[in-house]
Amino acid sequence: MAAFPQQPQSIAIIGGGVAGLQALRALENLPELEKIVLFEKSEDIGGVWRGQNYAGYGAQVKREQYSFVELSSSHLDVYPTARQLKLHCEDYVQTFSLRPFIRLGVEVQHLQRGNGCWRLALNDGTSEDFHFVVLAVGNFNQKFLPEVSGAESFMGQILHSSDLLEPELVREHHVVVVGYGKSALDCFILAAKEASSVTLVARSPAWILPQRFLGIPLEYLASTRWFANLVFPPYHDASFLRRFLGDLFWPFQTLLWWILSPILWVHFWLPWSMLPKFSLRWQLWHGHSVSICNAQKVKEAFDKPNAHCIRGEILGFTGTGVLVEDATTKQHIERKADVVVFATGYTECWSKLFDQETLASLDPAGDGSLELYKLILPSNLPGLAFVGRVLTTCDIVTSFVQAQWLAALLAARFRWPPEVLRNAWSQRYRRWRESVGPLGPRGQTFVAVPRVFSYLDELLSDLDLPKSGGSFSCRRFFSPLAARNFTPVAGRGQKLVPLKTRAEA
Ligand SMILES: Cc1cc2nc3c(=O)[nH]c(=O)nc-3n(C[C@H](O)[C@H](O)[C@H](O)COP(=O)(O)OP(=O)(O)OC[C@H]3O[C@@H](n4cnc5c(N)ncnc54)[C@H](O)[C@@H]3O)c2cc1C
Ligand SMILES: NC(=O)c1ccc[n+]([C@@H]2O[C@H](COP(=O)([O-])OP(=O)(O)OC[C@H]3O[C@@H](n4cnc5c(N)ncnc54)[C@H](OP(=O)(O)O)[C@@H]3O)[C@@H](O)[C@H]2O)c1
Repeated sequence: MAAFPQQPQSIAIIGGGVAGLQALRALENLPELEKIVLFEKSEDIGGVWRGQNYAGYGAQVKREQYSFVELSSSHLDVYPTARQLKLHCEDYVQTFSLRPFIRLGVEVQHLQRGNGCWRLALNDGTSEDFHFVVLAVGNFNQKFLPEVSGAESFMGQILHSSDLLEPELVREHHVVVVGYGKSALDCFILAAKEASSVTLVARSPAWILPQRFLGIPLEYLASTRWFANLVFPPYHDASFLRRFLGDLFWPFQTLLWWILSPILWVHFWLPWSMLPKFSLRWQLWHGHSVSICNAQKVKEAFDKPNAHCIRGEILGFTGTGVLVEDATTKQHIERKADVVVFATGYTECWSKLFDQETLASLDPAGDGSLELYKLILPSNLPGLAFVGRVLTTCDIVTSFVQAQWLAALLAARFRWPPEVLRNAWSQRYRRWRESVGPLGPRGQTFVAVPRVFSYLDELLSDLDLPKSGGSFSCRRFFSPLAARNFTPVAGRGQKLVPLKTRAEA
């Protein structure tokens, strides 16, 4: 095995959210590096936490999980608000003097490979060459609004959930919310409080996770090793014996899921029409949206006399509302609406950066299911990495470990396996992901929540670091993922003479 073939002298990072900032911090001090620039198309850092989303949004996991590994989180709320996370990003930039490397208001519009470099076409009409490019463009900043007939004749307002910036937009209005992800549930809760009436139209109601389950804080279940081992098959790198035991255990796990699901249902006790048609195990594994909610608030919203829910789909707009097909009764129902909120999620934006040929080699299936070595590096496009494309619900720690892993690789701190071994890794990983059910829309780059530890441990083992989560194996087994446990990882890929100092010298 050889060292990574390319020791880049220049690096471009695209995206100034938590992933891009952590990549900048990790890569800034690489040996050989002469130039590093983070391009952010908006006028501010912070990515999804910039404040451009529905009123009152924030992290759905606790500050112990969702805060920068190298900064204290004690001043954040237990569930940090978007505003707090934005300030946390600013603290990060200031603490580590990252600002000189960040170019705000510059959009990278196109990436073209040639002469051992990537040429970046920028929105001001200029272009710049870099040896290595890190894509940290996020998964949730390009709104998805489905096309619904009759929109032009609708007299009310059509919003995406991320446009619901102020409660005034729904106050004392008749509101329809479309979707059943976390955004939809939060917009529904907001409208149930503020609006004259609200109707939630959900085509596929999903399982919702409570912040506490049977009195236990959710992170002690969903983000622990013991729970992952209890409910999911062993990770792809498990020994033959563990996989054999996993197979033996499979029927027991299936039984456990069957027991957990009705208990979870009773926990919220929502209208029957909202009972999911798929299993909880499938939802968590497949990459379907996972919403962690305050059960009391959800129940209160559904119980309000002005709040209604329909399992079904919007067929079209009428002048004064929407026509909905109720999937339970097969009837068409007209709902009056002044405001229709499409909480229908986002589409990814990285693919529009490449020409068709590059795209075809990056994403041969054309469905976004990229095969990335360690979920970071495309196998056939040199000089490119994705940081933050993996979804885990603890993306801030995941992108931190990915950035540190990448820095260590580029600094030749560990060996770069030959192509055959990299492909074998990808195939083994895919086989393992498919062992429970077909891959979801994000392909393999979705890590089922409780299995995030296994993925992070795998990256840490390349860095010769022990497993995260505390020094005692027993504590490690039962403790939830916490950002502070990853501090030993910081700086593992770094050298020595920081770029700033070299530039000044
Ligand atoms: C409302 C909401 C709540 C969420 N809550 C949680 C949570 O509780 N826990 C969790 O783990 N995850 C949560 N997420 C997921 C969240 O996206 C990640 O946690 C994390 O913030 C992603 O960071 P990122 O840096 O990868 O992407 P982003 O934060 O999306 O940052 C990407 C940045 O790239 C910039 N960019 C994109 N394209 C270009 C370009 N061509 N040129 C220049 N700049 C570009 C964008 O402007 C953006 O600033 C939530 C997402 C949303 C939308
Ligand atoms: N921390 C927080 O508080 C918080 C808040 C908001 C969002 N988030 C995160 O941000 C990400 C995005 O969440 P999101 O809720 O905005 O989007 P999402 O999870 O992608 O959910 C989109 C919803 O819209 C529905 N939908 C999509 N297209 C539709 C169509 N054409 N017609 C009808 N319904 C349609 C989907 O239904 P189908 O399932 O049938 O496709 C789904 O219910 C998630 O990872 C989420 O966890 C977190």
